[in-house]
Amino acid sequence: MRVSDSQARTRVPAGVKTIAFAVAIFICVLAGSLPTRMQAQSRLATAGVYSSGQAQRGAADYKARCAKCHGAQLEGLAGPPLAGADFLNIWKSQPLSDLYGKVHITMPLDSPGTLTPAQSTALVAYILQGNKFPAGGADLPSDEPALKLIALAPAGTPAAPRTAAAAVSFPAVGTLNQVMRGILFPSSNVLFDVQTQDPGASEKAGAKAGAATTSVRYGNVYGPWIGVDVAAIAIAESAPLLMTPGRRCENGKPVPVDRADWQMYVQGLVEAGRVAYKASQSRSQDAVSEATNQIADSCANCHRVYRDVANPAMRCTPPAP
Ligand code: HEC
Ligand code: HEC
Repeated sequence: MRVSDSQARTRVPAGVKTIAFAVAIFICVLAGSLPTRMQAQSRLATAGVYSSGQAQRGAADYKARCAKCHGAQLEGLAGPPLAGADFLNIWKSQPLSDLYGKVHITMPLDSPGTLTPAQSTALVAYILQGNKFPAGGADLPSDEPALKLIALAPAGTPAAPRTAAAAVSFPAVGTLNQVMRGILFPSSNVLFDVQTQDPGASEKAGAKAGAATTSVRYGNVYGPWIGVDVAAIAIAESAPLLMTPGRRCENGKPVPVDRADWQMYVQGLVEAGRVAYKASQSRSQDAVSEATNQIADSCANCHRVYRDVANPAMRCTPPAP
């Protein structure tokens, strides 16, 4: 089943959704019953959330398994820097559990899944130390709920200034339809395929990563899960192309970039891509399947108003008030 021009989505089977929904309610009930304790536990990394002994253990693993790509001083080589303003800009708005998950699930890039939880936590401690967060009396915990409550910066901290982007503009080349067919259609199909095919299946079966049996289109070039990662990234990153001034729809109507509802639908698409990327980074087929619901909705919300109109000549025309 594919996203097609008339019918825009495949769906997770209803049973799966019901279970996910039940789990979500369960979690809400749990969270609701523990509000004060949950809040009391949340803290900032500036308060000393790891021990220096733990960071030292992390340093040893770092040297052996990470430095060749991220540099002896965390300064970045083939891999990005793990210290400094650029690094912090990316991670400070996310709970420490995300950084832990990034390390534990996807690193080292050449042999992911080989770190124990304790090793990954010690590596995070070492990275915190490298970013000048102070050591405290106790180890950083290895369990995800506890790490979720730790933040690198207070919520709403503005991004540190970065080099201003050059004032170059790139006028639209294609119609909206071409952008849809060229980027959003193939990328979302990669994600929808995950509903029925597990990208991790070939690895689980003991086959080499990148074997020809991969379930993901082009997955045999970069590895199946990386193929899913980049499909989600393509959606999130290309969504702003729907805001390029001067782009036209196939029928010659200007893309209604000034409309608040259009902007909201584009925002929804960026967010759905972000969620799908996060799900893909968890390397869980179920999580990606669930995320495809949000992708499908974000496409359909806009299509309902601007594409699926009776008369194609009226596509991209704002609806009558
Ligand atoms: C073979 C090279 C390689 C090795 C070895 C490696 N990494 Fe990476 N790492 C990368 C690349 C490339 C990226 C960027 C792509 C990505 O995010 O997957 C990355 C991204 C990261 C990120 C996210 C950085 C950001 O800016 O978002 C973290 C954190 C990280 N690596 C930690 C580690 C740790 C800890 C180790 C050692 C256990 C490790 N890496 C080993 C290549 C490597
Ligand atoms: C902000 C609004 C908006 C969003 C979000 C959006 N689309 Fe579209 N899409 C349109 C419009 C409008 C058209 C018709 C474009 C034209 O006629 O030039 C279209 C056309 C298409 C077409 C081509 C249909 C044809 O007739 O060939 C495909 C395929 C498509 N979209 C897929 C997607 C997918 C997949 C997503 C989500 C991942 C998505 N779109 C998200 C507005 C949107």
